[in-house]
Amino acid sequence: MTRSIEFTLDGKTVAAPEGELLVYAAARHGVFIPTLCHDDKLDPYGGCRMCVVGVEGSPRPLPACALRVTDGLSVSTNDSVPQFRRTLTEMLLVEHLDPDPGGRPNELLDMANELGAEAPFVLPDAKREPYEDRNRLMGYTPDTCILCNRCVRYTQEVMQCSALSLEGRGPEARIVPTHGHSWLDTECELCGGCLSACPTGAIYEKFEEGTTRPERALRKVKSTCTFCGVGCQIDINVDPETDRIVKITSDPSYVSNEGNLCVKGRFAFNFVHHPDRLTEPLVRGDDGELHPTTWDDALRVAAEGLEGVMERHGPQSIGVLASARLTMEENFLLQKLARTALRTNSIHSCEAT
Ligand code: SF4
Ligand code: SF4
Ligand code: SF4
Ligand code: FES
Repeated sequence: MTRSIEFTLDGKTVAAPEGELLVYAAARHGVFIPTLCHDDKLDPYGGCRMCVVGVEGSPRPLPACALRVTDGLSVSTNDSVPQFRRTLTEMLLVEHLDPDPGGRPNELLDMANELGAEAPFVLPDAKREPYEDRNRLMGYTPDTCILCNRCVRYTQEVMQCSALSLEGRGPEARIVPTHGHSWLDTECELCGGCLSACPTGAIYEKFEEGTTRPERALRKVKSTCTFCGVGCQIDINVDPETDRIVKITSDPSYVSNEGNLCVKGRFAFNFVHHPDRLTEPLVRGDDGELHPTTWDDALRVAAEGLEGVMERHGPQSIGVLASARLTMEENFLLQKLARTALRTNSIHSCEAT
């Protein structure tokens, strides 16, 4: 069991498990330390210095996202730290030609607004070489990228792949596909995880359809992905004016998937509004054509049809196909229906073989 230690936080003695990251220990004691390159899902990195704090005995401020608490540590978050943070934010802004493309969620701009920081000028060599990736789901705006490496670290630590790399130095630095010219030339599965880890919107959905609104103006409806039985929790982002789904996101706090999705869960949503989609029950009439009807009527017709088969050929002539795309509860109910109402044990899943 982890030993509890005591350390000093802004003059108060507080307790924390030994070795806990300072950023978490401070948050539990009501002191919020802003971060930028830090991601709860990823290993400590300490790259951007946005979270620095004063530490007694240290000649320079240290990053709270990479500092582990120890007995007797003495930390100050309010001496010269706010001014340092403001200067750092301004330095990041002067390196970026396009810090706010298309109203994407942007932690750097949120920080700038909160601190009242503005770019006094933009560096003459701020322009970074763009490239057009031929994949149709995600794009990259180098002039928005703060080189925090969250995307690259996500690919390596969560997706266990090496699809993205940080290339070049200084003004030439940017994120690129590790092999070839496109993410499609790498082992990228287009899960969009790097996109969700990006704090500035430099990696973005090309697939956002039917809205010009920024993400924060969309209505989020919590739901469960319907594509497979893993049951990842998702937020369906709906344009409030058109009532159309424009993108899918997921929150790191969701238990089943911690905000991670696969390509289907994140990007395959436009079938919902496809005109060919069945949106109401249909029953074949005497004319041989399918006609819209009510659920009560459709279920009555299905029940009568099944009863007819049972009478003519016996219950074992009926087979039921379940699906791994259903929830466990739905599959349970389906086998119950098969075994008790239809009296057949012929129930199987199409994914089982
Ligand atoms: S989309 Fe997924 S698989 Fe592709 S680079 Fe990003 S994290 Fe890796
Ligand atoms: S693309 Fe986003 S996550 Fe990746 S380095 Fe740039 S800002 Fe950071
Ligand atoms: S996001 Fe992918 S893994 Fe998760 S439930 Fe949907 S299809 Fe399954
Ligand atoms: S958030 Fe701590 S160094 Fe970037």
